[in-house]
Order: sequence, then structure tokens, then C-alpha cells
Amino acid sequence: MKAAVLRQLNTPLEIEDVDIDKPGPNEVLTRTAASGICHSDLHVIEGGLPMPPPCILGHEPAGVVEAVGDGVTDFAPGDHVIGCLTSFCGTCKLCTAGRPYLCPTQYEGRPLGSKPRLRAADGSDLIQFANLSSFAEKMLCPERSLVKIRDDMPLDRACLIGCGVTTGLGAALNTVNIRAGASVVIIGCGGVGLAALQGARIRGAGKIIAVDAQAWKFDIARKLGATDCIDATDGDPVAAVHELTGGGADFVFECIGLVPTVQQSIAMTGRGGTAVLVGVVPVQEMVPIPAADLTLQEKNVTGSYMGSNRFRFDMPHYVDFYLDGRLRLDEMISSRIGLDDVNDAFDHMRKGEVARQVIVFD
Ligand SMILES: NC(=O)c1ccc[n+]([C@@H]2O[C@H](COP(=O)([O-])OP(=O)(O)OC[C@H]3O[C@@H](n4cnc5c(N)ncnc54)[C@H](O)[C@@H]3O)[C@@H](O)[C@H]2O)c1
Ligand SMILES: [Zn+2]
Ligand SMILES: [Zn+2]
Repeated sequence: MKAAVLRQLNTPLEIEDVDIDKPGPNEVLTRTAASGICHSDLHVIEGGLPMPPPCILGHEPAGVVEAVGDGVTDFAPGDHVIGCLTSFCGTCKLCTAGRPYLCPTQYEGRPLGSKPRLRAADGSDLIQFANLSSFAEKMLCPERSLVKIRDDMPLDRACLIGCGVTTGLGAALNTVNIRAGASVVIIGCGGVGLAALQGARIRGAGKIIAVDAQAWKFDIARKLGATDCIDATDGDPVAAVHELTGGGADFVFECIGLVPTVQQSIAMTGRGGTAVLVGVVPVQEMVPIPAADLTLQEKNVTGSYMGSNRFRFDMPHYVDFYLDGRLRLDEMISSRIGLDDVNDAFDHMRKGEVARQVIVFD
């Protein structure tokens, strides 16, 4: 099958012919229909998220099941599925306590030392990203990386739910409790931020303020529910938020992952409010924050990982939200491309020229 392989950090992905194994016990082979491109893939390419090459990136997929291994009970050939990187063991303390997205076992399905699922044409091993590797025509995953969805959901939109939408929407719906009328700021209107914005709208937030360095994104943000927009390149966005909210917002979602914007998110948060860190700051970097603000103004800072998901439960609901019109995905897609154009897509992402780009397979 054809796949885009990261051979070395900071180099273009190479389109190669790759071997994929047959499904082993509790594994599912899926034909990839579509894969969104998430900034976390770019973080891996740039070394901000550790994942040693050679590997196949891509972790925002939807597809159709082709074959299942022994013991698979939840899927059958022909099922439409979304893949999620938070595969869960189902038995640990966090899984059984209702927070499977924090499962520490990094459930892989195949015991350590087993045959790899993916191999290059020369027989060498390729690392699978997050049990998925969706920049490839097929995926071989543990069944606990997948969820079955309705057949009437278009797969080129379903894929967005695999990471960005679940991350942003779930940050607003699951991680924190946004009361109707609360003021909300979204910093960064990429796929993740635009989903968090919609979560705030679904929750009935009052002011929903979108902040981005690319003013053209505000057309999309307004369509998806932003009441106000702040161009981060035009004056001080922190002062602008304080003015619009009368002293700081109830919730601020940082959806970029830069040190200055994390600091801005805390500065934009009002007394007693909550800054939600959704963007991934490169693992090598530290963020100095004014701790006294947290104490004296009782500001909260929380992280949000993968939308605090229980994806087998959440994702079918998000599909329903799309099909009943509450969740808007069409507006979030800037382009549909072929796998061969994946490197151009990362260039567009670096320049902030796009919202979400989707690779569509034949
Ligand atoms: N917490 C999680 O579980 C999780 C999951 C998925 C992705 N992420 C992370 O979320 C972040 C966003 O991902 P994405 O795919 O939406 O990225 P993206 O590149 O599509 O969007 C980032 C947005 O930030 C804007 N931006 C960049 N610099 C800015 C600045 N200084 N001020 C204002 N706006 C600025 C860009 O114009 C763009 O609209 C990434 O760090 C990604 O790794 C986190
Ligand atoms: Zn992602
Ligand atoms: Zn677990």
C-alpha cells in the first residue's frame, strides 16, 4: 500500500510502498477513506513531540473495515469507523474510573517484541504513530482504537472527529463546565480551536471571542458562533479581551501551543476563571506564569488531553451533532487533497493559511 513515511525529523515525508500485516487477535484492518492533518503531526516532524522516525504519521482518520482478527466482537467488514489515538486497556484504574483517555498503559494490542504491523519495502520496521498511522491507504489497529459510526456520515468529515474536533469540542463539553452565558475566549482558530469554539456555542456561552493572527479566519469563526474577533497582530489581545469582558473571561482555551499565547491565556482569564491549555507546547519548553495571579485571583489553569474523551461514547454523539446541524464541519475544511500533496499541506499549515486540510483516498 501507499503511505507517507517520515524518514528524518524536519524533512518532507516520502511516499513509499509499505507492507501492512494481517490482523492478529483483537485487531482490525481498515481501508482509510480520509485523514485530517493535525498540527500534532507537524509537531512530530519538527521534534516538538517525541516520536522517532522512521514512522508513518496521521492520527485523524475515518475508514471502512476490511477484515478483523480473532476475538474481535465489536467490528465486522463493511463497518464505518473513526480512529482515535487514545486506545484504552479497559481495566486500569483510570479506564474503570471513567477517564480512559488517560489510560497509562498505551494499550497497543500486540505484546512488546511482536512482529511490527508496518514494514518498508526493504523489510525494515516502520513505527506506527499512536496505533493508527493514517497517512496510508490502510490501517491495522487494535479494536480499542476504533469506534463504529453511522453509515450515513460522510467519511471525509467524520475523520475530523478523530482528533481535532474531539479535542476542541471535548475540551469545552467534557474538561470544564461552561455555564450558559459564560464568556469564552478561543486563542487559535485552527481545527482544534474552531471545534472548541463550537463546544462553547453548544454549551450556550454568552460572548465567544476568537483570537487569531490570521484575520481571514474570522469569517469562519463568525459562521461557527464567534460573537467577537480579535486580530492578535493588531494591538494587545489581552487588553482587547479585558475590555470586551469587563476584566477577563470566564474560560480561555489556548489552542495553539506557544509559550507567549499560553501566557496570554492566563492573563486573559478573569478572577475565578479558568485557562484551558489545549495546544501542545513543545516538550522541551517551559512556560513562566504569574503564580500570584492564580492565588490572589483564584484563577485556574487546567490541561485538556484529547477532549477528555470516552471516544466510544462521545464520537457517535458528535456524528449525530453534525447530522442534526449543531456541529459544523464543512466550514472547517479548507481543502481536500491526495496523499501525494501532504508536504504542501504542512507548508500551508506552517504559514497558517488553512483551517483543516483533509487527505482523501480513492
Ligand atoms: N490537547 C490535545 O490533546 C491536542 C490534540 C490535538 C492537537 N493539539 C494541539 O492543538 C494545537 C492546535 O492544533 P491545530 O491542528 O488546530 O493547529 P493549526 O495550526 O491548524 O491552528 C493554529 C492556529 O493558531 C493561529 N496562530 C498561530 N500563532 C498565533 C499567535 N501568535 N496568535 C494568535 N494566533 C496564532 C494560526 O493562525 C492557526 O489558526 C497544536 O499545538 C496541536 O498539537 C492538542
Ligand atoms: Zn491531533
Ligand atoms: Zn487503562
